Amino acid sequence: MLIAAIFTIFLIIYNCSDQVLTIRERRRAKYREAASRRAKERVKADERTTTMAVNAETRRRPTIEVSFQDLTVTLKGKGRRHILRCVTGKMMPGRITAVMGPSGAGKTTFLSALAGKAHGCKIIGSILINGKPDSIHSYKRIIGFVPQDDIVHGNLTVEENLWFSANCRLPANMLKQDRVLVVERVIECLGLQTVRNLLVGTVEKRGISGGQRKRVNVGLEMVMEPSLFILDEPTSGLDSSSSQLLLRALRRENLQGVNVSMVVHQPSYLLFQMFDDLVLLAKGGLTVYHGSVREVEEYFSGLGINIPDRVNPPDYFINVLEGMIKLNTSSGVTCEQLPVRWMLHKGYHVPPDMHANAAAMFPEGQLSTNEPNDIKDATKDHSFIGEIWEYVKSNVKVRSDVIRHNFLRTKDLSNRSTPGILVQYRYFLGRYISC
Ligand SMILES: Nc1ncnc2c1ncn2[C@@H]1O[C@H](COP(=O)(O)OP(=O)(O)O)[C@@H](O)[C@H]1O
Ligand SMILES: [Mg+2]
Repeated sequence: MLIAAIFTIFLIIYNCSDQVLTIRERRRAKYREAASRRAKERVKADERTTTMAVNAETRRRPTIEVSFQDLTVTLKGKGRRHILRCVTGKMMPGRITAVMGPSGAGKTTFLSALAGKAHGCKIIGSILINGKPDSIHSYKRIIGFVPQDDIVHGNLTVEENLWFSANCRLPANMLKQDRVLVVERVIECLGLQTVRNLLVGTVEKRGISGGQRKRVNVGLEMVMEPSLFILDEPTSGLDSSSSQLLLRALRRENLQGVNVSMVVHQPSYLLFQMFDDLVLLAKGGLTVYHGSVREVEEYFSGLGINIPDRVNPPDYFINVLEGMIKLNTSSGVTCEQLPVRWMLHKGYHVPPDMHANAAAMFPEGQLSTNEPNDIKDATKDHSFIGEIWEYVKSNVKVRSDVIRHNFLRTKDLSNRSTPGILVQYRYFLGRYISC
């Protein structure tokens, strides 16, 4: 009986083995087919990426030029402390601007104010977009903002994070294969190929390294193809070569006319030279320099501030502004006088409370020169009535901006229509389920 049963089982196995082998072979063939199809797709995508890279200079995005005049940010409430004062300048498309200064100088506040994200404070002064007084919120769909803190989702892989951002923020009518190219280009630019399928990780669950995480944060905003790209300390915590890799990626964005502005701490000289423009802020949010990186050393040497041999210029400037280096110059300029020097150099108005500081720079009798004349003009323009009028005007403007931003729909000038709220919610649910 037992022998018969075993015999029957063997018979069945023998008869089925052919079928099993066929099924297995079929499955293998299917895998091979899928693999070859994927390889072909990848070759095609690579070809298109190369073409895109070649055409990068021609494929320009809508440009955003940001100019600001007398930008002053004051804390609300008692004391009304200024955290940014009388900052005037311009950030141009196709250029990378570095914002530097000692800790607490107002760098984050400055970039947040430009991006329309400075909350809990009062902003006075004007910000023009492409020369027009439009609200920055009208362009929010083409503005990328990377805050200092993480915005990445730890329970998703690097690629899933990038795809979520790309799906929600790229134009709704963009073809899937073009989105693939954008995501692939960002992964490649930021050197994330090796970790693309790894979980980003959380405090409890270790994921990718800190430097890679920082690059994913940048990638989240890069995949939405911004025209104005604002980054707060994207290179902090990165080693020198990773910082350079990131800067090179931003340079490629520049070729498409993107306006990049970023806060940077302690850049190496090599990295420093990769920037086009520099905004140097002193404590109290006052500008000490705003212009080309190539001319900054010349400007300071004109004030008698020369960088010693073998000292990294950005480090030296920050040390001077921190007050760690006592200036001993022929012109007698002190660290406190540098903001007024800049205002006079550019012919900007000097606020009344800084007149004493400005007057101290010039001995009696020299007040007829151009610079002190500016001071006199400034006093004339800022009479008591004039100041009250300016105050009322700016208050009305601030209130109307707040009402417009919170209660009225801002006119969209970005020329991009992103997926609707329901579609975005679907992507969100997809993300939630895959966690
Ligand atoms: N919303 C706010 N409320 C209170 N203090 C603030 C606020 N925003 C900025 N500050 C203060 O303003 C100063 C400048 O801040 P921040 O712009 O973050 O400096 P930085 O980025 O140059 O280090 C700091 O002293 C900070 O504490
Ligand atoms: Mg900061």
